[in-house]
Amino acid sequence: MTNKILVTYSSRTGWTPGVAEAIGKTLTENSFQVDVIPMLEVQSLSTYNGVVAGSAIRSRAWLPEAVQFIRAHQDELRVRPFAAFLVCMTLAMPSGENYRSQISTWLDPVRALVKPVSTGLFAGGLDISRVENFSDRLMFKLSVMFGVWKEGDHRDWNAIHQWAIQLKPLLLNYSE
Ligand SMILES: Cc1cc2nc3c(=O)[nH]c(=O)nc-3n(C[C@H](O)[C@H](O)[C@H](O)COP(=O)(O)O)c2cc1C
Repeated sequence: MTNKILVTYSSRTGWTPGVAEAIGKTLTENSFQVDVIPMLEVQSLSTYNGVVAGSAIRSRAWLPEAVQFIRAHQDELRVRPFAAFLVCMTLAMPSGENYRSQISTWLDPVRALVKPVSTGLFAGGLDISRVENFSDRLMFKLSVMFGVWKEGDHRDWNAIHQWAIQLKPLLLNYSE
């Protein structure tokens, strides 16, 4: 039987799709057939043996449309392996790793809907010119000025690859 996996994501400023693509690439190299699709374009989960879903973080939470995706598909997600990831800037801070357990709680609303077989917490990126809202842009300019966050691409491709590798047995050996 083909192991067909959906890697789906939600993003606002364009850093999360690359994380999803990298997860998809690693799973493909590990003998899965993988579709990488934005959540808003997913019609049905019925053809997939497993689902990996991730979202950018805003205000310490998954994007609302990403939580809505899990809510809408919770029955289908409960009967197949489901893994969740988030992409944020806190992990890109010099002391970011100290906040890992706190960051993990940002997935609690997802866990309350469907229990993931694994969760991935990743640093994303910051390009202030891509932030839609004026007051948010101002807040980020100040955070950069005061050295809290640094603009640029902070994605850790090795960490993403390692997480995707350990997903393989979790996506294969699943019983409810
Ligand atoms: C308005 C706004 C709020 C954010 N809030 C948080 C936050 O609470 N914690 C955090 O670690 N990162 C936060 N970030 C950083 C994003 O999670 C990070 O830039 C991520 O890479 C964005 O992914 P995307 O480009 O796929 O949307 C925020 C970014 C924006 C623009």
